[in-house]
Parts: sequence; structure tokens; C-alpha cells
Amino acid sequence: MTPSEPCFRGRRLRNTVGLRDMVREIRLERQDLVQPYFVVEDDPEARREIASMPGQFQLGREALLRELEQPVRQGLRAIVLFGVPEHKDEQASGASHPRGVIQEAVQRIKRAYPELMVITDVCLCEYTSHGHCGLVENGLVQNDPTLDRLADTALSHVQAGADMVAPSDMMDGRVAAIRSRLDAHGFVQEPILSYAVKYASAFYGPFRDAAQSAPEFGDRRTYQMDPGNKREALREARADVAEGADMLMVKPAQPYLDVLQALRERLDCPLAAYQVSGEYSMLKASERMGWLDGTQVALESLTGIKRAGADIILSYYTTELLPLL
Ligand code: PBG
Repeated sequence: MTPSEPCFRGRRLRNTVGLRDMVREIRLERQDLVQPYFVVEDDPEARREIASMPGQFQLGREALLRELEQPVRQGLRAIVLFGVPEHKDEQASGASHPRGVIQEAVQRIKRAYPELMVITDVCLCEYTSHGHCGLVENGLVQNDPTLDRLADTALSHVQAGADMVAPSDMMDGRVAAIRSRLDAHGFVQEPILSYAVKYASAFYGPFRDAAQSAPEFGDRRTYQMDPGNKREALREARADVAEGADMLMVKPAQPYLDVLQALRERLDCPLAAYQVSGEYSMLKASERMGWLDGTQVALESLTGIKRAGADIILSYYTTELLPLL
């Protein structure tokens, strides 16, 4: 007797009760996901929905503590924090202030939820008056002078209790600068998640509304990566590993799954992917129009990102999907 067509084998597995789930290769789990939050400084009780990101809020530090209650109960493992300070200046002084918006929020969150992993985004763009990720002189972002400010900022975050710092500025040499600053102060255990492969992307649009961090002049193409480049991603990634990054991130996620897969195949460190604001907004907008099943496309997108090689995924969908995982 000849065996039946091979295609029937897959079908038999899918159609047998329970077997489909048992043989599934990629399973999205709660511990894969990290929820981003925007913390505002002006009003501790603020809870302002972000117009272009339905379901996401700018939260004051007290409002955030309350907001976390339910997701933590539902199994939320990790969050990443972005600060929206009241005052901005040329030096981004708010970024590293011991009583700055992030430092205060981290202290409170770790006191209330010691088991929740708190990651902090380390960048200057939310704190500079011009909105660039580094210090600016004569209209140009200055790489080396920025490193010191980033290291100050990262140190202030771990001093406040952050479990991991995530530099997203894309200055060259910042992982090494942050690592040596943390080590010098005895924070040898705190890992660095480097946004190693961050493209100059139009998908960050809604985030810049949420974080009030759109650059006042020019754009970020001098320090963020060209969407046409993939080999460069490997160079950036290897450089950050050599500088001491514990984990690397690719961002955005969905338009760059090939890059994520290439890194997965060539590197052996853990990888993160950021499903960014624009990716979220697109799906939410379609859901609102009744054009797509929001929950299903969210699960499918995140499964795809994991399948391409992400160990953890930063996603605005995290808290919404927790009860389903
Ligand atoms: C800060 C930063 C940005 C994002 C994360 N960190 C914005 C940017 O580089 O312009 C984008 C995240 C998102 O779009 O959800 N540099």
C-alpha cells in the first residue's frame, strides 16, 4: 500500500483533537511580553488617552501604580518606562535627575511591585528642548559628549531601582560607556538591553506624540539606521555585544522580521523586538473601522515576531492580551 499524500499528514495532525496544540512550534506566552508605559511629571494623577494609540495612556506616577494592579494580577512580568518631563533643556538635565520623572516612578513601582521587572528607556530625546536623542551643537548631534549624559542617566535609573536599562539613543559607544559607569558604581549585575538595530522609521510617529519627543528640526537619520540596510544591522549588533550588551533589540518589528531572523541565526545572545507605536496604531485603526479582528491580528503579529527569533517582545498589546495567554 502506498502512503497517502504528504499533505494529509499535516491535516491529520491539525484535525485530531488536542494534537494541533501539542505540535505547535511557537507559542506566545505571558513571559514573552513587555508593556511600555508613558509617565508624565506634571500631574501624579493624570490619565490621558493618547489619541493615535487607543487604549494607551500618559499616566502620572500615582495613576500608573493603580494602572498596574490588574495586569500584575493577570501575570504581567515586565514593563518599560518612558518619561515625559515637565521641563526640557539643551542638556537634558531632567534625564538623569535623581528625582526626575522616571527615577520617582521606578522607586514607587519597585516598592509596590517588587516582582515586576522594570526596564527603563535610556535616551535624551524626551528631555532635550530640541527633541534630539543627543546633545546638539551648531545644529549637529554630538556623539561623544552625549555618552557621558547617557551614562549619568542609566546610572540614575539603576540607583532608583531599575532592573535593566535599555539605551535607545543610537549614539556610537554608548553601551560601553553605560557598562563602565554602572560597574564603577557597583551595579555589575544590572543588564543592558541595547536597541542595537533601530531604524529611522516613520512607524514611531504616534510615540512621538505620546512622549512629546518629535525633533524640532531635522530628523533622526544621522544616527538611526537606513531601512534599506541589513548587513549594517549585523555590524551594529556585533559592536554592541563587544561593548557588553546583554541583550539586543530590533525595532520596529514587523517590517524588519528578516533582520531579526538574520540576527537570530548569526548571534547567540537573547533578542528582543519592539512592535512600535505605528504598528499598534495601524492594527487598532483597522479594528476600529471594523476591517480586521483586532485580537486575532495582534496575536498573529506577535506570534510572527516570536517565530522570526524574538525572545521577548515589547508591545502595547501586552496588557490587553494577558488574559488570553
Ligand atoms: C526614543 C525612542 C523612540 C521609540 C522608543 N524609544 C522614538 C524615536 O526614536 O523617535 C519609539 C517607540 C515606538 O514608536 O513605540 N529614542
